[in-house]
Amino acid sequence: MSDILRRGRLSSTPDEDILNFTSSMSADKWIFEADILVDLAHTVMLKEQGIIRKEDCSRILQGLLRIREEGIEKLDHSYEDIHISLESRLIDMVGEDVGGRMHSGRSRNDEVVTCIRIRLRDELISLMEELAQLRKNLLARASENRDTLMPGFTHLQHAQPTTFAHHILAHSGALARDTQRLMDAFSRVNECPLGAAAFASTGFDLDRERTRSLLGFEAMMENSMDAVSSRDFMIESASVLVNIMVNLSKMAEELIVWSSSEFNFVELHDSYSSTSSIMPQKKNPDTAELIRGKSGTVIGSLMGLISICKALPLSYNRDLQEATPNLWRAVETTRGAVRVMAGIFDTININTDSMALQSVMGFTTATELADTMVRAAGIPFRTAHQIVGVLARGNGDPTLEDIDSVAMDVLGEKLSDRGMSQEMLKEALDPLSNIRKRNITGAPSPDETDRAIRARSSE
Ligand code: ARG
Repeated sequence: MSDILRRGRLSSTPDEDILNFTSSMSADKWIFEADILVDLAHTVMLKEQGIIRKEDCSRILQGLLRIREEGIEKLDHSYEDIHISLESRLIDMVGEDVGGRMHSGRSRNDEVVTCIRIRLRDELISLMEELAQLRKNLLARASENRDTLMPGFTHLQHAQPTTFAHHILAHSGALARDTQRLMDAFSRVNECPLGAAAFASTGFDLDRERTRSLLGFEAMMENSMDAVSSRDFMIESASVLVNIMVNLSKMAEELIVWSSSEFNFVELHDSYSSTSSIMPQKKNPDTAELIRGKSGTVIGSLMGLISICKALPLSYNRDLQEATPNLWRAVETTRGAVRVMAGIFDTININTDSMALQSVMGFTTATELADTMVRAAGIPFRTAHQIVGVLARGNGDPTLEDIDSVAMDVLGEKLSDRGMSQEMLKEALDPLSNIRKRNITGAPSPDETDRAIRARSSE
């Protein structure tokens, strides 16, 4: 190869080992299209500013469009990065007297970070669409299961009855906030560093506003030193991805536990399951396990990014090249995980009978029973808590006589003498009636669930 960068200051070319060590070509496949766009915009602006001639501009633009058509495979991969490889291909096509003018007033430093921002914008938008699909599937499952009873947990111990819809709406709410975070991060990704050149801008009379608008950026990164040095937009985006993956990992953990025969709440579709090479009966929730595992990969990518960026002096340092693949790994992994989770919830089988059966196990109606005592007999909640706590030592299905006998010990009075009836007791121990009574904002009653689903669907 004739390396257009190594004909001046340097007199030797790196051997393969050094080239492999220094090259960013493999990660640069992410920014091939973006780099063409940046080249096109910069060239048009150079011509409009009278920095290059009209004829040269046209030939450069034609060359760039041909390179785009040929695709990245046609580029020489023995260059240290896509920018030089692309410029070199252009010079091969249109000659150095023309192609060699494209890089006027520009550095790879402002070029690369503009490319990363352009590609990341696309990725964030696609991810928002994929999250919207996942939330749509969650809402569909929720609306089918407004009355589907299940035990709610704290400390993974049966706590109070709830519904499958209410549980799923909780995850959907978390993912809605993640979408807002993505939009927020997007606004800071959408700033244009082009024109900063190496870091001190350039003596060419560039029109930065023009390239900003040609590339569809909302704002310009004004300070040219800040523009080339900062990767905070990558850290911020990766942090949002981490948050998404933490949320998906929590959902995955539940799916895994719920798929066990001990729980038997759900069954993943066969396409989202795997089997064992030795145990013929096995059906394993591997996709959920991989989502849980891949959350570690994304967390690791964020850690890589942060660790590389810390303590870097301004402005550009080659360390920054090492940061970028962490971003792409995080983006690719998160998008894959969101898509798979959407598929899981599109096809999942919900064992409503099994969940309903378990919804009362572990005396989950104890809180409602204590509340009923407060309302019926006018006793303080703390006293009711003590009475029901003593009753909970039994089988979790107390009679009014049981209640009266404990109340005699604690209060010196029977609750049936203070207005507590058989009917009230029966209602307190009925999980469906527990749910219906929980009808305030955000509660699991079917009516309130209805309202929440409608509100979420129009978001
Ligand atoms: N491949 C480089 C990167 O990803 C492009 C910028 C190179 N700049 C330089 N001064 N060597 O950061």
